[in-house]
Amino acid sequence: MVNEKPIISMKKINKRFGGVKALESVNLEAYSGEVLAIVGDNGAGKSTLIKVLTGVYQPTDGTIEMDGKDLVMNSHSDAIEKGIDAVYQTLALADHLDAASNMFLGAELSKKFAGISYLDNEKMRSEAERVLKERLGVVLKNMDAPAESLSGGQRQAIAIARAVYHSDLRVLVMDEPTAALGPQETARTLKLIDTLKAQGLAIILISHSLDDVFEVSDRIHVMRRGKCAGVVKTNETDKQEVLGLIVGANKQAA
Ligand SMILES: Nc1ncnc2c1ncn2[C@@H]1O[C@H](COP(=O)(O)OP(=O)(O)O)[C@@H](O)[C@H]1O
Ligand SMILES: [Mg+2]
Repeated sequence: MVNEKPIISMKKINKRFGGVKALESVNLEAYSGEVLAIVGDNGAGKSTLIKVLTGVYQPTDGTIEMDGKDLVMNSHSDAIEKGIDAVYQTLALADHLDAASNMFLGAELSKKFAGISYLDNEKMRSEAERVLKERLGVVLKNMDAPAESLSGGQRQAIAIARAVYHSDLRVLVMDEPTAALGPQETARTLKLIDTLKAQGLAIILISHSLDDVFEVSDRIHVMRRGKCAGVVKTNETDKQEVLGLIVGANKQAA
């Protein structure tokens, strides 16, 4: 572990939807410079857990601390303001817009000339190019290409660049980032995760692919039926043990 103290500490989080207990007393810690994988069957509570962490849902009970201080979020914008953001498998890019327009959608840069405000397209483009290259190591051959013509990995890079640019990003949640990608794009995305980790981000990776999880994660947090079934260090476990935790075949204290 790079840092001893967690950036994020979720404590005894409960989340109920009517009679459904989606999360029951879940603890989670995320550290700077670390990839924490979250795995579990469908319905185990993974998405609910990260929606609580990203301010989309408010927990029924439990607390979240950031740098040891209570963190109360009433919306996803509160989370972004604190440097917590998420990118989803269904990438919310505008298909007909290029990389820069997508990165600055709703937060366009402008310049003033003779008292009139204009979109600063040149600056948006150079900033988009810079962030993609400097933070993500990604160079797009054609910055004018509409998002729909780009590969899954490139689209993901744009979504991440947007998150990186618009906040002092410290915690990045990725929900199934490789689910729709081929092997080559998957390899690129895993490399990108390593790049961000090296910059000190805390990465939380939700994935169904144990191959990906074992390749990039430092720790694995297993969810099962709304509870944490165990947290294991990746280099101290194997797929069989993790699968056992996912299906509840072996018992391990969380
Ligand atoms: N908005 C919601 N309303 C009611 N029940 C929900 C809602 N979101 C999730 N659930 C329930 O909570 C449980 C956990 O779901 P989810 O967090 O989506 O699991 P996962 O992401 O691991 O597949 C499931 O039983 C699911 O049906
Ligand atoms: Mg889910």
